[in-house]
Order: sequence, then C-alpha cells, then structure tokens
Amino acid sequence: MRTTLLIALPKGRLFDAAIALLSRAGIATNGGEGSRKLTFPDAEGKYEFVALKPADIPVYVESGAVDAGIVGSDILREQEYEVYEPLDLRIGLCRLVLAAQEGVDLQSIPHMRIATKYPRTATRFFAARNRHTHIVRLEGSVEIAPLLGLADAIVDLVETGRTLRENGLRVVEDVAPVSAKLIVNRTAMKTRSGAVRSLITALDKVVYASS
Ligand code: PRP
Repeated sequence: MRTTLLIALPKGRLFDAAIALLSRAGIATNGGEGSRKLTFPDAEGKYEFVALKPADIPVYVESGAVDAGIVGSDILREQEYEVYEPLDLRIGLCRLVLAAQEGVDLQSIPHMRIATKYPRTATRFFAARNRHTHIVRLEGSVEIAPLLGLADAIVDLVETGRTLRENGLRVVEDVAPVSAKLIVNRTAMKTRSGAVRSLITALDKVVYASS
C-alpha cells in the first residue's frame, strides 16, 4: 500500500487554481504541469500528485488507481461515477450554457443540431424540455461548429464569455453552474480515513474561510 495519498490534478485551465488552493491549504506541490514528470510529491512527503486529463480523473479515482482528485462538476455531471464528493472547492467557476449565433431563433428550428463535448448532459437538458435534437459530439473548439454549419447551437462552458463573443455567439440559456470538486475513492475514504480527513479539513478551512 502507498504511504502517501495520491491525488490527481487536472491539466489545463484548472491546474494553476488547484495548485494555488493546495498551497493556501499548506500543501506545497513540488513540480507541476510544465515538467514532463507525471507524478510529483508535496514538500512534506504526505501527498503525491499526478497531472491528468480532466475527463480521465473520475475514472482513476473510481478505480482506486489514485486516492482523490480535483475535477470540474461539468465532468461529474456528464457521467455517474462511484466516488465520494466531499467538497466543493469554489474554484474553476463557470457556466455550462446553450449558445447560438446572433440572430438565430432556435425556436424556429424543429430538429436542432447541437455540438458539444457533453452529449449526455445536453441530451438530458433537451429531453426535459421535450425538444428533439441531434447531438454532434466534439472534443474541443466547439464554438466554431455553428460558424461552419456543422450545428445550429452549442452546449459548452463559458467563463469570461470571450470565446462566444469572438465567434459571434450569444448565450440562449444556462444549462448548469460549474465549479471544481474534490472527489475521493470510496475505499480510500475508509481505509485511509486519517489522511483523507486531514486533506478535506485543510482544504475546507481555506475554501470556506471567508464565508
Ligand atoms: C473552454 C470552453 C470554451 C472556453 C470558454 O475551452 O470550452 O471554449 O474555454 O472560456 P471563455 O468564456 O473565458 O472564453 P478550453 O479552453 O478549455 O478548450 P477546448 O475548446 O479545447 O475545450
């Protein structure tokens, strides 16, 4: 059994915020995304970190290959995983929205084509509204799909709104708020409860310090 708690950090836009949060919680990560080394320890040798693609993190945590992870609620909403979700970390705040080109009236399109990285979330969203849609699953740069005629609208993340604006798109409706969560493997929660609890307490203190 590992002596350290292995924690998955999301590569990409959440990475720096996750490192900053851990640092505020007194957990100094040595290394980072810039280095090619996949795992790196904290300064005290209590934790070890691995930077992974965000969409892969719940799979690693569910299987126990890593003990815990930091991941966006957009990913957790897309698919159900058997993991504990003890803490909302209040970082990576953004929104999942339905967006379309300026001037396009989606109500007048009977069978909309929706481009998204979140096919299940989008399917549930439109099913709840009794809208017939055709979901086009993409891996990224979703905002270009309406411009090129691949889709009538998109379901995607909006943070500053800049990507939408620069591609002539506007928000039609909010689908869900998004923030990063701490997730923990179900077995680790029991067998490594001391270490897991001390991680949760350290993060909880800084996340909820001002509320
Ligand atoms: C995300 C998201 C939008 C953009 C929104 O993409 O999918 O494209 O950021 O941010 P903004 O509102 O601040 O402009 P990301 O950069 O993660 O890359 P991706 O397109 O490959 O998913």
